[in-house]
This record gives sequence, structure tokens and C-alpha cells, in this order.
Amino acid sequence: MDRADMGTKGSGGACGVCGGRTYLIERQGDRAHARICECSVECKVCGGRGHLLVEQEATFSTKVGPRKYEVLAPCACTLRVKRVARFNEVGLPGVVAHATFDNYVPAKTQQDKARNAALHFAHHYDKKGPNKGFVLSGPVGTGKTHLLGATLAHLVLEVGVATRYVEISLLYATIRRGFQEGKSGGEIIGPLSEVEVLAIDELGKGRGSQFEMETLDELIARRYNANRTTLFATNYSLEPERKATRAVSGYHSTEDAKSALRAEELLRERVGERIYSRLCEMCTFVELPKDTPDHRRTRHELEPRGHHAPAKMRAHR
Ligand SMILES: Nc1ncnc2c1ncn2[C@@H]1O[C@H](COP(=O)(O)OP(=O)(O)OP(=O)(O)O)[C@@H](O)[C@H]1O
Ligand SMILES: [Mg+2]
Ligand SMILES: [Zn+2]
Ligand SMILES: [Zn+2]
Repeated sequence: MDRADMGTKGSGGACGVCGGRTYLIERQGDRAHARICECSVECKVCGGRGHLLVEQEATFSTKVGPRKYEVLAPCACTLRVKRVARFNEVGLPGVVAHATFDNYVPAKTQQDKARNAALHFAHHYDKKGPNKGFVLSGPVGTGKTHLLGATLAHLVLEVGVATRYVEISLLYATIRRGFQEGKSGGEIIGPLSEVEVLAIDELGKGRGSQFEMETLDELIARRYNANRTTLFATNYSLEPERKATRAVSGYHSTEDAKSALRAEELLRERVGERIYSRLCEMCTFVELPKDTPDHRRTRHELEPRGHHAPAKMRAHR
């Protein structure tokens, strides 16, 4: 039942609004919010009862042979209601409510790789685990949060996996606020260290204070020790070796000099060896090149002011 298709495609044609998905994801304030599509609010399969009689066959005695009998099983609509409610607890930002794998347009080969890594992860997620996560590294506006959003939406709504999304500096702020209300850091970190799949966005961001480093260390160490899957996005770079070697060997053009990485641009420097080492084991890395176009800017330049496509409801594909 876990990978049960919640769609209506098989039963009388796809809905024009949700494309047969039975749910929609829309922006509601600063959050992405899912709701059941009008076409599926009243369940045509179970008539709203929420369960169905399904026929099963079993052999209880060899003398009698196989016998058919009916059992009560939950209808797909029950699953749908649960998953939609779960999605609304994930914490995905509203700006990526529309994000899907299909509407991610790769301008660079590495973006194609990033999309494939996320798509493969989402479509081949094994609920019995363990699953290796991914780290997406790249400049601003290159669709990293977009891909995290598409991945989590697929996992929650199509596969039935419990996930959470956190933007790292908002997490630090939440914990700090929690302290003022008398909560311990663990009360906030606890559920995040236990959720099946956690996406940490903006890794490396922050002031790098002792409090921040300890919080991140605790969260990642707990997930690492429990063999849980974690996804990351970051603006910091992953691979210093190749470029550094070139510079040292004296073989470098102006381009190399321009793209040479400074220590403060490296994720390893930002999060420290302990965390970086764990990331290497927990995740596959995809790095988008520095010249990957900023989608926010290209969109702005292509569309005259006031003509931005409204962030309206879209079927999740
Ligand atoms: N390759 C792409 N194809 C389609 N839409 C994209 C692509 N890249 C970015 N976008 C859209 O542009 C906006 C910004 O993208 P997103 O927030 O994912 O960027 P980001 O890489 O996370 O940037 P930042 O590093 O600033 O967090 C979103 O609305 C997203 O859907
Ligand atoms: Mg982002
Ligand atoms: Zn519909
Ligand atoms: Zn039903």
C-alpha cells in the first residue's frame, strides 16, 4: 500500500486541474501547502467510507483447499488525506511550491546531473533503507531549493515517507528563541534527528558561532549514527583539490585564477572536518559551476516588470 498510486488516471481519465495526481501544491504565505483536488474530495471508489472490501484468497486447510474471503482495507483516499496532512508539516518554503522535476530546466550539464541525482533518489527511495542522500552545491538561484522541494514532495505524497525541511539559519534562530522560552535545544533537534528524511538548506550559512557549530554537529552526528538519510543544499564549494593542484603546478590562466577557490568559500572550512567527513559518507555530491545562470535574474530579465507568472496552483508532476 505504501507506493499505492493515489491518482485517478486508471479510473476515467485524468483531471485537467491536477493532471490525475488528486492533489495540488500551492503557495500559502511563506509556505508550500498541499490540498486535495476538487476531483478527489468526494471519493468515487469507496463512496466516502474510507475503506473497501477486498477479496483475498488463502488456504486454511489442505482438505478444503484455497478459499476466497473478503477483508476490510483502507481506501486510497484515506492514504491521500494522511499524506497531504503530512506534507503540510514538512515546512517547505512557498517559493518552491510549484517546483517539480519536470519544470526544472537545466541550463548546464551539471544541472542536468543535479536533477538526475535528485530524481533518482526520489524515485528509487527504499523504505527499508539505508539510502544515500545528496549534497547540491552551487551559486544563488540555480534551483537547489527547487530540487529539494521536488524531492520531498515526491517522497511525502507519492511514496509516503516522513520528511522535514529546514533552512539552517532559521533553525538556529528557532532554537535560540526556544532557549528564551525555557526549551532545551534537544527538544527542537530531537524530532529533526529522527525524521526519516531531513533536508537541510543553506548549509554553511550563519555566523559560525560555537552555538551554531555545536547545534549542527549534534544534528548531523545523530543522523549519521542512526544511519538516517539527509539531503543538503549549499552555496559553498565542495571540491578544492582539483583547482588547488592546478594553481600550485603553475598552470593557470586568468580563468583559473578567477575560479580559484578561497578557503572561506569551501564548505569544509565552513562546517569543519568532523561534519564534512560525515557528509562524504552520507551523501553523493553534485556541484554546479560558478557560471550557472541565476534563474531569478534571468526570469526577471526575460519578463517585463509586472508580468511575472503568478505563483499559482500547479499540479505536482
Ligand atoms: N533550473 C531551473 N529550472 C526552473 N526553475 C528554476 C531553476 N532554477 C531555479 N528556478 C526557480 O528560480 C527560483 C529560485 O530557485 P531556488 O530557490 O531553487 O534557487 P537556489 O539555488 O536554492 O538559490 P539560493 O542559493 O539563493 O538559495 C525558484 O522559483 C525556482 O523554482
Ligand atoms: Mg535555496
Ligand atoms: Zn483533479
Ligand atoms: Zn475512498
